[in-house]
Amino acid sequence: MSRSAHPAGPRHADVLPEGHYTAPPADLNVLDEKVWSRTVARNEDGVVTVGGIEVTRLADEFGTPAYFLDETDFRARCRAWADAFGKDADVFYAGKAFLSRAVVRWLREEGLNLDVCSGGELAIALDAGMPADRIAFHGNNKSVAEIERAVKAGVGRIVLDSFQEIVRVAHIAQDLGTRQRVQIRVTVGVEAHTHEFIATAHEDQKFGLALAGGQAAEAVRRAIRLDGLELIGIHSHIGSQIFDMAGFEVAARRVVSLLAEIRDEHGVELPEIDLGGGLGIAYTSDDDPREPHEIAKALTDIVTRECEAAGLATPRISVEPGRAIVGPTAFTLYEVGTVKPLEGLRTYVSVDGGMSDNIRTALYDAEYSVALVSRTSDAEPMLSRVVGKHCESGDIVVKDAFLPADLAPGDLIAVPATGAYCRAMASNYNHALRPPVVAVRDGEARVIVRRETEEDLLRLDVG
Ligand code: LLP
Repeated sequence: MSRSAHPAGPRHADVLPEGHYTAPPADLNVLDEKVWSRTVARNEDGVVTVGGIEVTRLADEFGTPAYFLDETDFRARCRAWADAFGKDADVFYAGKAFLSRAVVRWLREEGLNLDVCSGGELAIALDAGMPADRIAFHGNNKSVAEIERAVKAGVGRIVLDSFQEIVRVAHIAQDLGTRQRVQIRVTVGVEAHTHEFIATAHEDQKFGLALAGGQAAEAVRRAIRLDGLELIGIHSHIGSQIFDMAGFEVAARRVVSLLAEIRDEHGVELPEIDLGGGLGIAYTSDDDPREPHEIAKALTDIVTRECEAAGLATPRISVEPGRAIVGPTAFTLYEVGTVKPLEGLRTYVSVDGGMSDNIRTALYDAEYSVALVSRTSDAEPMLSRVVGKHCESGDIVVKDAFLPADLAPGDLIAVPATGAYCRAMASNYNHALRPPVVAVRDGEARVIVRRETEEDLLRLDVG
């Protein structure tokens, strides 16, 4: 199923499937394992459990709305990525999808590295004890203070994003008496969509230095001359929520041809390439994401082949999956507050959260699934729109989905696949209190990011 993909936020294209959700699923009580995290199941009383704990108990203990993160699944996905890429490659979890100190500890224990893109993410990473040499620092406008902090901490790499930044990082490193390992982020001219990629269009955006027109080659020329920098490789990130590997293959090919140009011009073979993140996950049953081992094989094969053709030693590959690791591992639990049928249209189901805990539907036309989780029901399917409690008609969590017609206030419903870019992009709109993230594992649940309180709101508002 096609859907829109976007490089870093703003929506680039609407490729909404036709006739989506015109037919209800055969049994509304069945949980599609594609969209739910690994330890989610329904018990014999019909109540959904995660890590063996009933959602009804979780709601009583932690309240709603809340994100429940399946730690077992998160760790398994980390291991699957690390195993798929093996010891000759590096997996950097993209912290922008969701970062907390507990997550950093899990990454550390599972042997993953971490990509941060702000001073705040760097602070969380360092505080939670991620070894600095396992951190990559990204961003198109890192401040001097952020760069200084990263260089002082000894981050493994800084990904350079502009001509100004090349000089900025070089000076800071030199002043601190060190040489900073860096990669240069290049824009390869691939706009990745789910089932297509459009060459050239993608240069019109803020990230990276374009291969076309020689900007990237010029950046390499400048970086290579500066004592404060050790240029270790080239970085490319083509987009997000991508299912088709073709865009990555074109990107890899173009990055390798830049490596060959660098070898010809400077007589050096850069030892690393990073192909970014962006691998898609299943938000609905129509999505068919690739497995990490398929992705690893496709990327490794293409890089190896292209390097052989260019007479280059195969560089060390790294990737930066965010969504593909954390996305499927969490669901948001809501309590139904009102049920409002609109004759001939659909039924509006209002929950106790909304666009403040999941902005993705409003921002990207993202599609989600939803299920009644506090009980089963044999009632007829009812075409529903799950909406929040914000003062805005665009406050939609799930645009079109079927829920049982006997749905009533007090029922618990859950939206799966909300681990990525939901808590991370949560806001205080309407002075909503951002929900907690609760990690669940082997029958135990613990808060890893607590719910915001009115005291938090009042503390920021200094009067
Ligand atoms: N590496 C770089 C350099 C990135 O810019 C990104 C995402 C990633 C890795 C991780 O991409 P992932 O594997 O998670 O797709 N807020 C949007 C997504 C923005 C992605 C920004 N960059 C959303 O909710 O869909």
